Amino acid sequence: MVVLETERLTLRDAGLDDAEFILRLLNEPSFLRFIGDRGVRTLEDAQRYIADRLIESYVRNGFGLWVVERKESPGPIGICGLVKRDALPDPDIGFAFLPEHWFSGYAFESAASVKEYAFGALRLPRLLAVVNADNAASVRLLEKLGLRFVRTIALSSGEEPVRLFEREAPA
Ligand SMILES: CC(C)(COP(=O)(O)OP(=O)(O)OC[C@H]1O[C@@H](n2cnc3c(N)ncnc32)[C@H](O)[C@@H]1OP(=O)(O)O)[C@@H](O)C(=O)NCCC(=O)NCCS
Repeated sequence: MVVLETERLTLRDAGLDDAEFILRLLNEPSFLRFIGDRGVRTLEDAQRYIADRLIESYVRNGFGLWVVERKESPGPIGICGLVKRDALPDPDIGFAFLPEHWFSGYAFESAASVKEYAFGALRLPRLLAVVNADNAASVRLLEKLGLRFVRTIALSSGEEPVRLFEREAPA
C-alpha cells in the first residue's frame, strides 16, 4: 500500500518480498555504525524483521518505517518513517538509504513528507528523533526539517548515549 507520495518518490508499506533489500540495507556499514546491528544475516532473518518489526508497527501504531522507491525507476532505495519506542514518549522519525542513493535529496524529500504526515493526518503533538553525535548527515537533515537538539539521553542502559531532537507541531 502506498502511504505517501512526493514529487520524485513513493513511500509504501514493506512486504516480505522486500527481504533482499532489507538484508542489504541492515548490513550496510553506515547502518551498522549509525543505527545498530539488528542481527539480520539471512533472507529468513530479513523476512522475520519485516514481519515482527515493520509490519507489526503498521498494525499496532498505524505508522512505521516505510519503503522508499523512485517513481522513475521502481525498486527500494531506502526506508523512512516513524517509530514508537517504549523508551520515548512520542514517535521519532527514522531514515536510512542505500549509499548509491545518497546526496540526491531523497532522504530530505521523504522525511519532509513523513513530518507533514505526522503533524497533519496523524495529528502528533510532537516529533522526536534520536541520532548519534557523529552522524553529521543525519543531524543536518533533522535541522533542515526544523527539529532542534534537546539533550543527550541513553535509550537503554549499557547503550551509547544518543542525541534527542524534537519539534512541536505547528500551531
Ligand atoms: C542520513 C542519510 C539518510 C542522508 O541521506 P542523503 O540522501 O545523503 O540526504 P539528503 O541528500 O537528503 O541530504 C540532506 C542534507 O544532509 C547533508 N548531508 C548529506 N550527507 C552528509 C554528510 N556526510 N555530512 C554532512 N552533511 C551531509 C546534505 O548536504 C543535505 O543538506 P544540504 O541540503 O544543506 O546540502 C544517509 O546518509 C544514510 O542512509 N545514512 C545511514 C543511516 C543513518 O545514519 N540514518 C539516520 C539514523 S538517525
